[in-house]
Amino acid sequence: MAMNALEFPRGFRWGAATSSHQVEGGQDNDWTAWERRGKIRDGSVSGRACDHWNRYEEDFDIARELGHNAHRLSLEWSRIEPRQGEWNEAALQHYRSVVRAVRQRGMEPFVTLWHFTNPRWFADRGGWEAGEAPALFSRYAAKAAEALPQVKFWLTVNEPNVYAVLGYIAGEWLPEVKNFVRAFRVHKQLIKGHQRAYLAMKQVRRDLEVGFAQNLVFFEPTRSSSRLDRWSTRQADRWYNRRFIALTRRHCDYLGVNHYLHQYIRFRSVRDPIGYEPQGQPQSDGGWQIYPQAMYQVLKIARDYGKPIYITENGVADAQDRWRKHFIRDYLMQVHRAMSEGADVRGYFHWSLLDNFEWREGFTQRFGLAEVDFQTQARKIRPSAHWFAEVCKRNALPLQDA
Ligand code: FCB
Repeated sequence: MAMNALEFPRGFRWGAATSSHQVEGGQDNDWTAWERRGKIRDGSVSGRACDHWNRYEEDFDIARELGHNAHRLSLEWSRIEPRQGEWNEAALQHYRSVVRAVRQRGMEPFVTLWHFTNPRWFADRGGWEAGEAPALFSRYAAKAAEALPQVKFWLTVNEPNVYAVLGYIAGEWLPEVKNFVRAFRVHKQLIKGHQRAYLAMKQVRRDLEVGFAQNLVFFEPTRSSSRLDRWSTRQADRWYNRRFIALTRRHCDYLGVNHYLHQYIRFRSVRDPIGYEPQGQPQSDGGWQIYPQAMYQVLKIARDYGKPIYITENGVADAQDRWRKHFIRDYLMQVHRAMSEGADVRGYFHWSLLDNFEWREGFTQRFGLAEVDFQTQARKIRPSAHWFAEVCKRNALPLQDA
């Protein structure tokens, strides 16, 4: 049977994403301190995590075997600057080896500087609320850019909106604050931090490609006939999806889009207008709705800003690998559809290469293309990952299964 396929443009980047705290193991940062206070839902601590700090070569072998031509990872600030103003040469050397190992396997590294975790000294000084935070962050950014000349694609911060909302409005993540004013301040400081880091890195090398990863949610009004629900939905879109992007337009070479959610919004009150409805079906292990059209919708949002777009995360918690293959296929169809309507998407990074430590949920949420046995550290590639490997290798998405 002739197989129809959706072709992707030449040079499209295919890969997976990870972050330092979630995979490396052996961390000592503000999140590990919080874990030790018993805050993780399954009672775990990140501990050894995937021991990726020691096993990165084996893990990148998996990525290569899976046909990836790019890989997204993050640096751990607390390792690189363990005390304020003191640089740990050994940590920088380690990351040079990591980046080299990525390149040696024919993959383009995409490197994030800050993926939620802070050095303890930074947290002790007030974290992102402190006035000095953007300057401290940009100094680290410049240091990293100098130390890793093999990296061309950088992401300054990961999901500043998620961080501000979960840590400072919902109070579910550290520092467990529920205060709009403080959330707004943190978000603003992250914007400044990004801008300053962007400028500092461009001074190191003008040809770097510097962006950030924004979490985009497709918000819809619960009752489309309700003006109030529609108004609340616009507020969510404006503050959560667009604000960071709109205010960093002049300090941004490309947009990283992390996409997972579709959310119905209901008007709650004038003071607290955004009410969330329960998610629809079908759902991942974590209760997130699988809703591929949302990918198309958020790429239309991203398209508004006229930048190249990389999907820097998209994935599903699915221990049994029941959904993942169809999830990837259906979400990629929507990516292709958005591209045919002008979204300049240049790459897709699946979250994640490995099962790993999921922030508040611990080890229960299994997002990996490869399954990890956290007792033995054995990796096992999931069937869906082999299927995705064919997509990466052919640079095309088959519409029928052979
Ligand atoms: C995103 C995070 C990433 C991972 C996925 C599931 O919000 O950036 O680290 O936890 O969710």
